[in-house]
Amino acid sequence: MNGLPICGIVGPGRLGTTLAIALHRLGCLQWLKGCSPQHAERAQAYGLPYGESWDDLPPVDLLWYAVPDRAIATVVEESVQALGTHRLRQTALIHTAGSLGGEVFQGLPSDVEWGCAHPFQAFPWPPQPHLLRCIGWLVESPHPRVHQRLTLLIRALGGIPVAVAHFPAEYRTRYHIAAVTASNALTALLRFALDIASSAGIPAPLFLHPIVEASVQNTFSAIGSLPLTGPITRADWPTLQHHIECLQDGERAVYRSLLLATASVARSHGLLSEEGWHQLQRLLPPELNKQ
Ligand SMILES: NC(=O)c1ccc[n+]([C@@H]2O[C@H](COP(=O)([O-])OP(=O)(O)OC[C@H]3O[C@@H](n4cnc5c(N)ncnc54)[C@H](OP(=O)(O)O)[C@@H]3O)[C@@H](O)[C@H]2O)c1
Repeated sequence: MNGLPICGIVGPGRLGTTLAIALHRLGCLQWLKGCSPQHAERAQAYGLPYGESWDDLPPVDLLWYAVPDRAIATVVEESVQALGTHRLRQTALIHTAGSLGGEVFQGLPSDVEWGCAHPFQAFPWPPQPHLLRCIGWLVESPHPRVHQRLTLLIRALGGIPVAVAHFPAEYRTRYHIAAVTASNALTALLRFALDIASSAGIPAPLFLHPIVEASVQNTFSAIGSLPLTGPITRADWPTLQHHIECLQDGERAVYRSLLLATASVARSHGLLSEEGWHQLQRLLPPELNKQ
Protein backbone atom coordinates (compact mmCIF):
# COMPACT_ATOMS: atom_id res chain seq x y z
CA MET A 1 0.00 0.00 0.00
CA ASN A 2 1.16 3.61 0.51
CA GLY A 3 2.34 3.58 4.12
CA LEU A 4 -0.90 5.07 5.40
CA PRO A 5 -2.76 3.27 8.21
CA ILE A 6 -5.53 0.98 6.98
CA CYS A 7 -8.91 2.21 8.20
CA GLY A 8 -12.36 0.89 8.96
CA ILE A 9 -15.23 3.29 9.71
CA VAL A 10 -18.40 2.51 11.68
CA GLY A 11 -21.27 4.88 10.85
CA PRO A 12 -22.09 5.80 7.24
CA GLY A 13 -23.52 9.24 8.11
CA ARG A 14 -22.40 12.76 7.23
CA LEU A 15 -18.83 12.58 8.51
CA GLY A 16 -18.39 8.79 8.14
CA THR A 17 -19.30 8.81 4.43
CA THR A 18 -17.21 11.95 3.72
CA LEU A 19 -14.18 10.44 5.46
CA ALA A 20 -14.76 7.06 3.79
CA ILE A 21 -14.75 8.63 0.29
CA ALA A 22 -11.56 10.58 1.06
CA LEU A 23 -9.78 7.56 2.58
CA HIS A 24 -10.92 5.34 -0.30
CA ARG A 25 -9.31 7.80 -2.74
CA LEU A 26 -6.10 7.60 -0.70
CA GLY A 27 -6.23 3.79 -0.96
CA CYS A 28 -6.49 3.15 2.78
CA LEU A 29 -10.18 2.42 3.41
CA GLN A 30 -10.70 -1.25 4.23
CA TRP A 31 -14.42 -0.99 4.94
CA LEU A 32 -17.36 1.18 5.99
CA LYS A 33 -19.69 -0.51 8.46
CA GLY A 34 -23.40 0.25 8.66
CA CYS A 35 -26.45 -1.51 10.03
CA SER A 36 -29.30 -1.10 7.52
CA PRO A 37 -30.22 -1.64 3.84
CA GLN A 38 -30.14 2.17 3.38
CA HIS A 39 -26.54 2.23 4.60
CA ALA A 40 -25.62 -0.54 2.14
CA GLU A 41 -27.29 1.36 -0.73
CA ARG A 42 -25.51 4.57 0.22
CA ALA A 43 -22.11 2.87 0.34
CA GLN A 44 -22.77 1.26 -3.04
CA ALA A 45 -23.77 4.63 -4.52
CA TYR A 46 -20.35 6.03 -3.58
CA GLY A 47 -18.47 2.85 -4.56
CA LEU A 48 -17.31 2.18 -1.00
CA PRO A 49 -16.40 -1.28 0.42
CA TYR A 50 -19.19 -2.07 2.87
CA GLY A 51 -19.98 -4.58 5.61
CA GLU A 52 -22.45 -5.13 8.44
CA SER A 53 -21.21 -8.13 10.41
CA TRP A 54 -18.08 -7.68 12.52
CA ASP A 55 -17.14 -11.29 11.65
CA ASP A 56 -16.76 -10.39 7.96
CA LEU A 57 -14.63 -7.29 8.44
CA PRO A 58 -10.85 -7.64 7.96
CA PRO A 59 -8.51 -6.18 10.62
CA VAL A 60 -7.54 -2.51 10.38
CA ASP A 61 -4.93 -0.20 11.93
CA LEU A 62 -7.46 2.52 12.81
CA LEU A 63 -11.08 1.75 13.69
CA TRP A 64 -13.10 4.97 13.42
CA TYR A 65 -16.41 5.43 15.25
CA ALA A 66 -18.40 8.03 13.25
CA VAL A 67 -21.72 7.36 14.98
CA PRO A 68 -23.73 9.96 16.96
CA ASP A 69 -21.95 11.07 20.15
CA ARG A 70 -24.52 9.39 22.40
CA ALA A 71 -23.99 6.02 20.63
CA ILE A 72 -20.17 5.94 20.69
CA ALA A 73 -19.71 4.18 24.05
CA THR A 74 -22.26 1.49 23.08
CA VAL A 75 -20.72 0.86 19.66
CA VAL A 76 -17.21 0.74 21.17
CA GLU A 77 -18.47 -1.89 23.61
CA GLU A 78 -20.22 -3.82 20.82
CA SER A 79 -17.03 -3.85 18.70
CA VAL A 80 -14.82 -4.93 21.59
CA GLN A 81 -17.24 -7.78 22.38
CA ALA A 82 -17.38 -8.85 18.73
CA LEU A 83 -13.68 -8.58 17.86
CA GLY A 84 -12.10 -9.51 21.19
CA THR A 85 -9.34 -7.55 22.89
CA HIS A 86 -6.64 -9.82 21.45
CA ARG A 87 -7.45 -8.74 17.88
CA LEU A 88 -7.82 -5.12 18.94
CA ARG A 89 -4.20 -4.99 20.14
CA GLN A 90 -3.17 -4.24 16.54
CA THR A 91 -5.96 -1.68 16.12
CA ALA A 92 -6.35 1.82 17.57
CA LEU A 93 -9.92 2.87 18.37
CA ILE A 94 -10.71 6.44 17.28
CA HIS A 95 -13.81 8.57 17.75
CA THR A 96 -14.51 11.86 15.98
CA ALA A 97 -16.71 13.71 18.51
CA GLY A 98 -15.62 17.20 19.51
CA SER A 99 -17.63 17.00 22.72
CA LEU A 100 -16.03 13.82 24.09
CA GLY A 101 -12.58 12.81 25.24
CA GLY A 102 -11.21 9.42 26.23
CA GLU A 103 -14.03 8.66 28.69
CA VAL A 104 -15.81 6.47 26.12
CA PHE A 105 -12.75 4.18 26.06
CA GLN A 106 -12.59 3.73 29.83
CA GLY A 107 -12.83 0.10 30.77
CA LEU A 108 -10.72 -1.10 27.83
CA PRO A 109 -7.66 -3.20 28.70
CA SER A 110 -4.67 -0.84 29.11
CA ASP A 111 -2.90 -2.27 26.05
CA VAL A 112 -5.74 -1.38 23.67
CA GLU A 113 -4.82 1.97 22.12
CA TRP A 114 -7.31 4.75 21.50
CA GLY A 115 -7.56 8.35 20.34
CA CYS A 116 -9.98 11.20 19.69
CA ALA A 117 -9.62 12.91 16.31
CA HIS A 118 -12.05 15.75 15.71
CA PRO A 119 -12.10 17.57 12.37
CA PHE A 120 -13.01 21.21 13.06
CA GLN A 121 -15.39 21.48 10.12
CA ALA A 122 -19.10 21.13 9.28
CA PHE A 123 -19.94 18.14 7.04
CA PRO A 124 -23.51 18.28 5.69
CA TRP A 125 -25.20 15.98 3.16
CA PRO A 126 -24.28 15.22 0.43
CA PRO A 127 -20.68 14.29 1.31
CA GLN A 128 -18.05 16.75 0.03
CA PRO A 129 -14.56 15.35 0.65
CA HIS A 130 -12.89 18.67 -0.26
CA LEU A 131 -14.21 20.00 3.08
CA LEU A 132 -11.48 17.94 4.74
CA ARG A 133 -8.74 20.06 3.15
CA CYS A 134 -6.93 22.82 5.10
CA ILE A 135 -8.83 22.25 8.34
CA GLY A 136 -7.56 21.82 11.89
CA TRP A 137 -7.99 18.47 13.67
CA LEU A 138 -7.74 18.19 17.42
CA VAL A 139 -6.03 14.86 18.19
CA GLU A 140 -5.99 13.55 21.75
CA SER A 141 -4.34 10.28 22.68
CA PRO A 142 -1.96 9.06 25.38
CA HIS A 143 -0.39 6.65 22.84
CA PRO A 144 2.58 7.86 20.70
CA ARG A 145 1.82 5.29 17.96
CA VAL A 146 -1.74 6.64 17.64
CA HIS A 147 -0.39 10.20 17.30
CA GLN A 148 1.99 9.02 14.61
CA ARG A 149 -0.69 7.17 12.60
CA LEU A 150 -3.29 9.93 12.89
CA THR A 151 -0.80 12.68 12.03
CA LEU A 152 0.26 10.82 8.90
CA LEU A 153 -3.33 10.21 7.83
CA ILE A 154 -4.65 13.71 8.58
CA ARG A 155 -1.79 15.29 6.64
CA ALA A 156 -2.55 12.95 3.72
CA LEU A 157 -6.16 14.21 3.87
CA GLY A 158 -4.85 17.78 3.56
CA GLY A 159 -5.63 18.59 7.19
CA ILE A 160 -3.55 20.10 10.00
CA PRO A 161 -3.29 17.95 13.14
CA VAL A 162 -2.91 19.60 16.55
CA ALA A 163 -1.99 16.74 18.86
CA VAL A 164 -2.06 16.56 22.64
CA ALA A 165 -1.64 13.66 25.07
CA HIS A 166 -4.49 14.98 27.23
CA PHE A 167 -7.08 17.71 26.64
CA PRO A 168 -8.64 18.81 29.97
CA ALA A 169 -12.43 18.34 30.07
CA GLU A 170 -13.16 22.03 30.71
CA TYR A 171 -11.04 23.04 27.70
CA ARG A 172 -12.80 20.45 25.55
CA THR A 173 -16.20 21.84 26.45
CA ARG A 174 -15.12 25.39 25.55
CA TYR A 175 -13.49 24.05 22.36
CA HIS A 176 -16.77 22.38 21.38
CA ILE A 177 -18.80 25.52 22.20
CA ALA A 178 -16.51 27.40 19.78
CA ALA A 179 -17.23 24.81 17.06
CA VAL A 180 -21.01 24.91 17.61
CA THR A 181 -20.96 28.72 17.55
CA ALA A 182 -18.75 29.05 14.48
CA SER A 183 -20.66 26.49 12.41
CA ASN A 184 -24.22 25.79 13.63
CA ALA A 185 -25.04 29.20 15.14
CA LEU A 186 -23.44 31.03 12.21
CA THR A 187 -25.45 28.96 9.72
CA ALA A 188 -28.69 29.76 11.55
CA LEU A 189 -27.74 33.45 11.76
CA LEU A 190 -26.99 33.61 8.02
CA ARG A 191 -30.28 31.86 7.22
CA PHE A 192 -32.13 34.45 9.31
CA ALA A 193 -30.40 37.31 7.46
CA LEU A 194 -31.15 35.69 4.07
CA ASP A 195 -34.84 35.23 4.92
CA ILE A 196 -35.21 38.86 6.11
CA ALA A 197 -33.42 40.10 2.97
CA SER A 198 -35.63 37.94 0.72
CA SER A 199 -38.74 39.38 2.41
CA ALA A 200 -37.47 42.85 1.43
CA GLY A 201 -37.66 41.75 -2.22
CA ILE A 202 -33.94 42.01 -3.00
CA PRO A 203 -31.69 39.29 -4.54
CA ALA A 204 -30.56 38.13 -1.10
CA PRO A 205 -27.46 36.03 -1.98
CA LEU A 206 -26.13 38.79 -4.27
CA PHE A 207 -26.34 41.39 -1.52
CA LEU A 208 -25.41 39.22 1.45
CA HIS A 209 -22.51 37.14 0.19
CA PRO A 210 -19.97 40.03 -0.09
CA ILE A 211 -20.87 41.55 3.27
CA VAL A 212 -20.60 38.15 4.97
CA GLU A 213 -17.22 37.52 3.30
CA ALA A 214 -16.05 40.97 4.47
CA SER A 215 -17.19 40.30 8.04
CA VAL A 216 -15.24 37.03 8.10
CA GLN A 217 -12.15 38.60 6.50
CA ASN A 218 -12.29 41.63 8.82
CA THR A 219 -12.63 39.45 11.90
CA PHE A 220 -9.68 37.20 11.08
CA SER A 221 -7.41 39.98 9.84
CA ALA A 222 -8.18 42.43 12.69
CA ILE A 223 -5.25 43.10 14.98
CA GLY A 224 -6.30 44.05 18.49
CA SER A 225 -9.60 45.81 17.87
CA LEU A 226 -12.95 44.23 17.05
CA PRO A 227 -14.06 45.31 13.54
CA LEU A 228 -17.67 45.90 14.63
CA THR A 229 -19.79 48.62 12.97
CA GLY A 230 -23.50 49.48 12.93
CA PRO A 231 -26.24 50.90 15.16
CA ILE A 232 -25.00 49.33 18.42
CA THR A 233 -21.52 50.85 18.15
CA ARG A 234 -23.19 54.19 17.23
CA ALA A 235 -25.67 53.89 20.13
CA ASP A 236 -28.40 54.53 17.55
CA TRP A 237 -31.40 53.37 19.60
CA PRO A 238 -34.16 55.01 17.46
CA THR A 239 -33.07 52.89 14.46
CA LEU A 240 -33.14 49.69 16.52
CA GLN A 241 -36.52 50.65 18.02
CA HIS A 242 -37.85 50.98 14.46
CA HIS A 243 -36.39 47.56 13.51
CA ILE A 244 -38.13 45.94 16.47
CA GLU A 245 -41.47 47.50 15.55
CA CYS A 246 -41.25 46.30 11.93
CA LEU A 247 -40.48 42.65 12.68
CA GLN A 248 -42.98 39.84 13.09
CA ASP A 249 -43.26 37.97 16.39
CA GLY A 250 -40.89 35.03 15.78
CA GLU A 251 -38.41 37.28 14.00
CA ARG A 252 -38.44 39.82 16.84
CA ALA A 253 -37.34 37.20 19.40
CA VAL A 254 -34.44 36.10 17.20
CA TYR A 255 -33.38 39.69 16.46
CA ARG A 256 -33.58 40.61 20.15
CA SER A 257 -31.22 37.74 21.03
CA LEU A 258 -28.82 38.75 18.27
CA LEU A 259 -28.77 42.41 19.37
CA LEU A 260 -28.13 41.42 22.99
CA ALA A 261 -25.31 39.08 21.93
CA THR A 262 -23.79 41.78 19.72
CA ALA A 263 -24.06 44.35 22.50
CA SER A 264 -22.50 42.00 25.03
CA VAL A 265 -19.47 41.45 22.79
CA ALA A 266 -19.29 45.19 21.94
CA ARG A 267 -19.37 46.05 25.64
CA SER A 268 -16.60 43.58 26.54
CA HIS A 269 -14.43 45.11 23.77
CA GLY A 270 -15.03 48.69 24.91
CA LEU A 271 -17.30 49.54 21.95
CA LEU A 272 -20.43 50.10 24.04
CA SER A 273 -20.57 52.13 27.24
CA GLU A 274 -22.29 50.92 30.43
CA GLU A 275 -24.94 53.59 29.91
CA GLY A 276 -25.49 52.41 26.32
CA TRP A 277 -25.74 48.80 27.53
CA HIS A 278 -28.50 49.74 30.00
CA GLN A 279 -30.35 51.81 27.37
CA LEU A 280 -30.35 48.82 25.04
CA GLN A 281 -31.61 46.52 27.82
CA ARG A 282 -34.56 48.89 28.33
CA LEU A 283 -35.26 48.87 24.58
CA LEU A 284 -35.25 45.06 24.52
CA PRO A 285 -37.23 43.76 27.52
CA PRO A 286 -37.76 39.97 27.75
CA GLU A 287 -41.48 40.48 27.02
CA LEU A 288 -40.54 41.12 23.39
CA ASN A 289 -39.95 37.36 23.08
CA LYS A 290 -43.64 36.72 23.71
CA GLN A 291 -45.13 39.37 21.44
N1 LIG B 1 -21.22 16.14 10.64
C1 LIG B 1 -20.33 16.97 11.14
O1 LIG B 1 -20.27 18.15 10.72
C2 LIG B 1 -19.31 16.52 12.15
C3 LIG B 1 -18.14 17.30 12.31
C4 LIG B 1 -17.19 16.88 13.23
C5 LIG B 1 -17.40 15.74 13.99
N2 LIG B 1 -18.55 15.02 13.82
C6 LIG B 1 -18.75 13.82 14.66
O2 LIG B 1 -18.91 12.69 13.80
C7 LIG B 1 -19.77 11.73 14.44
C8 LIG B 1 -20.93 11.41 13.49
O3 LIG B 1 -21.63 12.62 13.26
P1 LIG B 1 -22.50 12.82 11.93
O4 LIG B 1 -22.85 14.26 11.85
O5 LIG B 1 -21.82 12.16 10.78
O6 LIG B 1 -23.81 12.03 12.33
P2 LIG B 1 -24.88 11.28 11.38
O7 LIG B 1 -24.93 11.97 10.07
O8 LIG B 1 -26.11 11.13 12.19
O9 LIG B 1 -24.20 9.87 11.13
C9 LIG B 1 -24.13 8.85 12.09
C10 LIG B 1 -24.34 7.55 11.37
O10 LIG B 1 -24.10 6.47 12.28
C11 LIG B 1 -25.08 5.49 12.01
N3 LIG B 1 -25.15 4.57 13.16
C12 LIG B 1 -25.76 4.76 14.35
N4 LIG B 1 -25.56 3.67 15.13
C13 LIG B 1 -24.83 2.79 14.40
C14 LIG B 1 -24.33 1.48 14.62
N5 LIG B 1 -24.55 0.84 15.77
N6 LIG B 1 -23.61 0.88 13.64
C15 LIG B 1 -23.38 1.51 12.47
N7 LIG B 1 -23.85 2.75 12.18
C16 LIG B 1 -24.56 3.37 13.13
C17 LIG B 1 -26.34 6.32 11.78
O11 LIG B 1 -27.36 5.52 11.20
P3 LIG B 1 -28.73 6.18 10.62
O12 LIG B 1 -28.37 6.65 9.24
O13 LIG B 1 -29.68 5.04 10.60
O14 LIG B 1 -29.12 7.28 11.55
C18 LIG B 1 -25.77 7.39 10.84
O15 LIG B 1 -25.70 6.94 9.50
C19 LIG B 1 -20.25 12.39 15.75
O16 LIG B 1 -19.46 11.92 16.82
C20 LIG B 1 -20.01 13.87 15.51
O17 LIG B 1 -19.80 14.61 16.69
C21 LIG B 1 -19.51 15.37 12.92
